[in-house]
Formats: sequence, structure tokens, C-alpha cells
Amino acid sequence: MKERKESFEKINGELLNFLDNSPTSFHAVANMRNMLEDAGFKRLLEGEAWSLEEGSGYYVTRNDSSLIAFRIPKRNFIGFQIMASHSDSPALKIKDNAEIQVEKHYVKLNVEKYGGMLCAPWLDRPLSVAGRIVVRTKEGVATRLVNVDRDLLIIPNLAIHMNRKANEGYEFNAQKDLLPLFGGKEAGEGFLSLIAREAGVEREDILDTDLFLYNRMKGTTLGLKGEFIAAPRLDDLQCVFASLKGLLAAEPNESVAVHCVLDNEEVGSGTKQGADSTFLRDVLRRIHKAMGRSEEEYLMALSSSFMVSADNAHSIHPNQPDKADPTNRPFMNEGIVIKYSANQKYTTDAVSGAVFKSICERAQVPYQVFFNRSDMLGGSTLGNISNSQVALNTVDIGLPQLAMHSCYETAGSRDTAYLAKAAQVLYSMSIRGSGDGEYRVAWEQA
Ligand code: CO
Repeated sequence: MKERKESFEKINGELLNFLDNSPTSFHAVANMRNMLEDAGFKRLLEGEAWSLEEGSGYYVTRNDSSLIAFRIPKRNFIGFQIMASHSDSPALKIKDNAEIQVEKHYVKLNVEKYGGMLCAPWLDRPLSVAGRIVVRTKEGVATRLVNVDRDLLIIPNLAIHMNRKANEGYEFNAQKDLLPLFGGKEAGEGFLSLIAREAGVEREDILDTDLFLYNRMKGTTLGLKGEFIAAPRLDDLQCVFASLKGLLAAEPNESVAVHCVLDNEEVGSGTKQGADSTFLRDVLRRIHKAMGRSEEEYLMALSSSFMVSADNAHSIHPNQPDKADPTNRPFMNEGIVIKYSANQKYTTDAVSGAVFKSICERAQVPYQVFFNRSDMLGGSTLGNISNSQVALNTVDIGLPQLAMHSCYETAGSRDTAYLAKAAQVLYSMSIRGSGDGEYRVAWEQA
């Protein structure tokens, strides 16, 4: 029991560190690249021919914000075991010509919303800026990662005295209420100069930017016995991290293990690097091609493949327990949540749900079930969108959390380890789906 507790603490410590160092999807991908390189995975480029070897691990990125890593088993593989999650989180994005002077005494920055955020948590806390910039070089243009690693900005609330009804519900106007204060009257045109200094480039060489505000508050463990963790971007970097830990621990047997992290889920996945793009399909096909396989063998492999779409789920809220389904009650620390919806916003059906329950049993981790209340619309995720590009037997799951899309979310301190264990089992198993209603699952090393 003690050993188990220590292993929960260890993976949570690593997760919180990963979250602190991943203020944007670009940084999350850069940190995953480091972890993969340390584990001996080799980088592939989309613009070069791939030559792959059995028993080796590889990764490829698109737009520096999506990443697919995979390990090929030592012998002839029959399919793909995939876990897909997303690298982005809702945030405020900085517009071009960002500085706005306020009566010649303050400078604030012009921002717009990225994704469906809870606005209120962004106010009255230290914020900073991170993302990527694109600079002019001798050869053309090149991207640079930037993180202004200090408390820099704040979005101040209006005092209660100036809006006595503030506590009766407030509608945030993104163009008026969410602009961060950047400096006093000297701040002038200084924003891009600051970014240039942080990136070690000349200001006039910055051609364009993808820069986001982020919450400076670090992740922490809380609760009487350390039951909970709270941090920015748990949705969905908690699943991203658990999926990667599972891949690094797995020994693929008969299937290629595929850790797939896609950007832009929060804005509908419709980008070249999102779930509605060809990225995953391109990678799977190229793996087949590089291993000298035919188109028919690719399609046969898809029928012996399984995808876990891993995106965080809603736990029962301690102050609002009636917002959830009356009979399916997911709680933090009580296991991985399998998500169902009759209209197939979640891809889970009886077959994929059953396969995933078998994975959890094999991994000896608990699972629980989520349905929306029948009178409430739920969110959407990347599973069903990805299926329009690569049609696979897919289950939608997530880890239970509170305050989804706040800039500081809460989750269970046991659940990350549960998903990492389930991911390891997924990546090590194989499925033979003949299409006749029988799915044979093989767990053991042959
Ligand atoms: Co999500």
C-alpha cells in the first residue's frame, strides 16, 4: 500500500512538472520530444522518406503542436493500438498590434478567446505570455519557442462598489473585460521588444506570432491526505502525460503502439494538425508503406486495431451534485471514466466499452461510467472526429476532474497512475477483429 502511494506521488510530481513546463501546445510537444529522445525514440520528418525497423520507436510532429510517437513490435505486426489526446487548452490569444494605451497612463494588451473557457478564473491572478514566434532568417523563416517566465500581466476585476450586482452573474465581454494590464505609461510599444529579447532575436525580424496568456500559478497537491491535484491545463495534458508514460513502459507485442497527441481540439479540430486532419492517417499509412506492406494489408490492420480517445471527464461536483446523471456518478480517485452518449458524440459502444473494461481489469485499475444528464447537452471530443479520417473501433474515456476549462482545474491524485497503467496494457496488447462479431484480445508476450 505504501509503495502504491509513493508511486502515485511520483507520477503526480512528474505530471505537475510537465504541466508547469508546458504553458502552450508547442511547449507540451517540445517536452514530449525530450522525453521520447531520452527513451531512444528517433525523430522522423514528414518531408523525408521513412525507413523503419522492427523493435524501434519513432516520433513525428506536425506544426510543432501535434505529435505522434509509435513503437513497432519486434515481429510482424497485425494492427495498431492507439491512444489519442489533445495538446491544447482554452486560453486568451494575443492579437497583432497588441498595445492599447489607456488615457496615456496604462498600456493593456488586445487579446481574443481561444476555445470555450471559463472567463472568471483568468482575472486577478499573475499571468504571462508563451507560444511561438516566426522570425526572418538568412534562409527564409524559422519558428522559435518563447516563454516569458515571470509574472507579467494581470486582468483586474472591477471593484464590487462599481458593480453591486457582480455576484449575481456577470456576462464577460471579451473585447472589454478580458484585456490584461501590461504596464504604465512607459510600456508604449514594448510588447514585441520584450518578446524579441526573451527569444534572443531582433524585434524587426519577428514576422508573426502565436502567443497565448497563461496562468502563472503552479500545480499543487491538496486535500487532507493529498487526495487531489490542482493545476492549469489538466484537460487534456493529464491524459497526454499518462498516455506517454504508458507508451514508454510498454513492450508492444503484435501491434504498433501509437501515442497520438493532436492540437486544436478546443476549437473544433479542423486544422491541418487537428483530429479532423490527415495527420494520423498519413502516419499509419506511412508506417505500412515503410514496412513494405500493401494497401489491403493496411485496411486489414485497421480491423485489428483499437483506439482510446482520452480526454478528461466531469467528476461529480461537491457543490452541484445534481448536475450529473442520476445513476452514473464518476468521482475523482475512483478510476478511469468511460464516456457514453446515445447520439455518438462519444464513440463508445458496447464492443469498445467492453474491450476497454477488459483493459482496465487486465491493468488492475478501476473504471467508472459517464453519461450526460438526459436533459443536458455535453461537450464533444476528438474520437468521433478522428474516426471520419481513420475509422477504428474507438472508446471515449477520460480522467474525472472539476472546473473543466478553468485556467486552474482539479483532479484526483490517483487517477493519472491508473491511466498510465491502462495505457501500458493497451500498447502491449493486440486484437484480432474478424468482423464476424468476435474480437480476440491477446495480452501476453508471445
Ligand atoms: Co479536453
